[in-house]
Amino acid sequence: MPRLPAPPLPKGLLPKPPRPGEDNGNGAVTPAEAGVTVVDWIDERTSLSGGIRWMLFRKVPPGVTWAYTLGSATMFAFLSQAVTGVFLAMYYRPDVTGGAYESIRYITDQVFLGQFVRGMHKWGASVMVILIFLHMARVFFFGAYKYPRELTWVIGVTLLILTLIMSFTGYLLPFDGRGYWATIVGININGTSPFLGPYLSDFIRAGPEFGATTLSRFYSIHMLVIPAMIAALIGAHLYLVAKLGISAPPWLKSKPDPELELSRAEV
Ligand code: HEM
Repeated sequence: MPRLPAPPLPKGLLPKPPRPGEDNGNGAVTPAEAGVTVVDWIDERTSLSGGIRWMLFRKVPPGVTWAYTLGSATMFAFLSQAVTGVFLAMYYRPDVTGGAYESIRYITDQVFLGQFVRGMHKWGASVMVILIFLHMARVFFFGAYKYPRELTWVIGVTLLILTLIMSFTGYLLPFDGRGYWATIVGININGTSPFLGPYLSDFIRAGPEFGATTLSRFYSIHMLVIPAMIAALIGAHLYLVAKLGISAPPWLKSKPDPELELSRAEV
């Protein structure tokens, strides 16, 4: 059998390995520099930093107030819902024969920090709804929906509807009496809308009667369909916010630009 060549043996003792943070003389970076090097390496290949700078380093009009933070607060509430929701989904079972209710009880009573995470998700839902309405009120009363921000507003309205659908579909998931009957009422109300109503309630009920698949349908809408749509639309919403810039508060008097003013001779 052919033998492998022997590895080259070092002449004398090898140099002492450098301590963390020390320059080892062979051009390798220190741990403190390593992070920067990794970011540089990625940036050289993707140019992502340009996009991040475009998004984050923007001019903001003077006089903006705390009311302008409500959009970001809504986004934070959504992110918190997404993170806590992922942990709840690790234990939740959409099973109408008692499994759903039991899995929620298990999360609340047995799982480490389960009650806390469930509480955050449950109260966070109300927080998000309150924040989105406050953000919308700020935009409305400041007239920020006007040209050129109409599309930002329209996307916002879609986000509001999707957020309300999240609340509606999430309410059924614990499968307790309150959630069950509230959902029956909600589906019936949907059914009374003209033309599309009956089709709509058949769709969300997953058939003419409330059954085992209704819960699965609500669960899939709640944890897959709507969050994905919300995430994509928040992306579009923020792109427009960055592109168009934040509107100035309505009480800010605009300073006439001397270059744009007509001279007396032209009037
Ligand atoms: C998930 C829901 C939403 C998120 C995460 C969100 C996020 C944001 C953020 C971060 C801003 C920039 C800062 C600010 O003005 O607060 C903004 C601006 C804006 N949002 Fe929203 N928003 C949401 C829902 C809505 C809704 C429901 C509407 C209206 C129906 C709306 C309409 C607008 C408009 C028109 C602007 C531009 C405001 C300006 O330029 O002054 N948004 N949004």
